[in-house]
Amino acid sequence: MAKEMLLCAFDMNCVSHQSQGLWRHPRDHSEQFNTMKYWQDLARTLERGLFDGIFLADVTGVYDVFGGSPDTALRAATQVPTNDPFSIVPVMASVTENLCFGVTGSIPYEPPYSFARRISTLDHLTSGRMGWNIVTGYLDSAAKGIGQPKKEAHDTRYDIAHEYMQVVYGLWEQSWEDGAVLRDRKSGVFTDPAKVHPVNHDGKYFKLNAIHLCEPSPQRTPVLFQAGSSPKGQAFAGEHAECVFIGGHNAGRHAKSVASLRAQASAHGRDPDDLKIFGAITVIVARTDAEAKEKLADYKKYGSQEGALALLSGWTGIDFSSLDMDATVEQVESDAIQSALMAHGGATVREWAEDLTVGGAGPIITGSPQTIADKLQRWFEESGLDGFNLAYTVMPESIEDFVDLVIPELQQRGAFKRSYHPGSFREKLFDRQPRLQEPHPGAGYRL
Ligand SMILES: Cc1cc2nc3c(=O)[nH]c(=O)nc-3n(C[C@H](O)[C@H](O)[C@H](O)COP(=O)(O)O)c2cc1C
Repeated sequence: MAKEMLLCAFDMNCVSHQSQGLWRHPRDHSEQFNTMKYWQDLARTLERGLFDGIFLADVTGVYDVFGGSPDTALRAATQVPTNDPFSIVPVMASVTENLCFGVTGSIPYEPPYSFARRISTLDHLTSGRMGWNIVTGYLDSAAKGIGQPKKEAHDTRYDIAHEYMQVVYGLWEQSWEDGAVLRDRKSGVFTDPAKVHPVNHDGKYFKLNAIHLCEPSPQRTPVLFQAGSSPKGQAFAGEHAECVFIGGHNAGRHAKSVASLRAQASAHGRDPDDLKIFGAITVIVARTDAEAKEKLADYKKYGSQEGALALLSGWTGIDFSSLDMDATVEQVESDAIQSALMAHGGATVREWAEDLTVGGAGPIITGSPQTIADKLQRWFEESGLDGFNLAYTVMPESIEDFVDLVIPELQQRGAFKRSYHPGSFREKLFDRQPRLQEPHPGAGYRL
């Protein structure tokens, strides 16, 4: 059977996530991100289009690398103001049954004890539709928010993340045995204390001696996403991730990343296909190729180049205000997101910034539904990806266009599902049990 194409919407709890300036477009409603209705309407549209999930990015900290100040980011709404990504999960879950959630949670900014409880709560409330995108942070401004002068060095952040995983696996998988909760009205015993165990961890970065506060949720450990592709990032993904989100602007580059990520999974004794790999993509679709081109040109009129430069500066840790707009982005040493630079080697600063006014963390494809379906199918085959994270331009138009025009075309070609698979997020993705299975390291924690 042909491999199924997976699809997540790529979003963030802010305006114009990766389309800097487009909040000014007359048809854009992303400035309503503070309301429940905005997220409920979006969730319903995504479920109508049988999207597997919504991937919610998040950034702790403000983009203040550009010009050494947050002013540009604040003026242009470069991912600030930004609200908590986890709080909108129940809002969207309450109006959907199958849409799943991959939510970014940054390791340095919350102790594992309270974070594990938040995730278990959401996994209960969503009946097992929860995923966590494990990130390590890349902004010094965020470190200052928790009393540190600057973020830890790139590779140290991954070492910390490894230890964090040990603690949360302990809390989710080990602390409560299956069958610990009796809910026995007759005897008056809700939970059998003999089946609940403290997690005792005395490590380099974390210390904890406590029981998890929640009873086991449908998946226990949420579906684990990861989105860094430096050598350290890929090794981390090979060990822990079940889904990986990668950047990159051509199918050949994606194919290389896919091969090396799958090799990392094998090196950790896992089946390479146990990684579902998503590439970022932006789609601008209209009834005809010509109309789609006009749409893109119209969107670009509202883009904010300064906002895009502020974003790039934060991602790379390099102040783009001092760079020549026509210089090529070569592989510059970065202590922030190394893969952001790798993905864009070859482009000029001006081209990269322009892409980021129209959703372009990945390739931007325009055309009629037929043209888009052709391009998506070709990309899917050549890259070896499992699916796409669809970035938006103008919201909700961008998602509605995709659901109304592209999904039916893909379905007609047999390239996209016609109904949801049953069960939790993990069951839908892997067609197997809701909980982590050996040889994933998390499964080894279960008693
Ligand atoms: C496609 C992509 C999406 C990412 N999304 C986020 C995000 O939403 N929040 C965040 O803090 N870091 C995000 N990151 C950063 C990484 O997850 C990672 O923690 C880190 O910055 C190092 O990445 P590296 O291994 O590529 O150097 C993203 C990275 C990539 C490549």
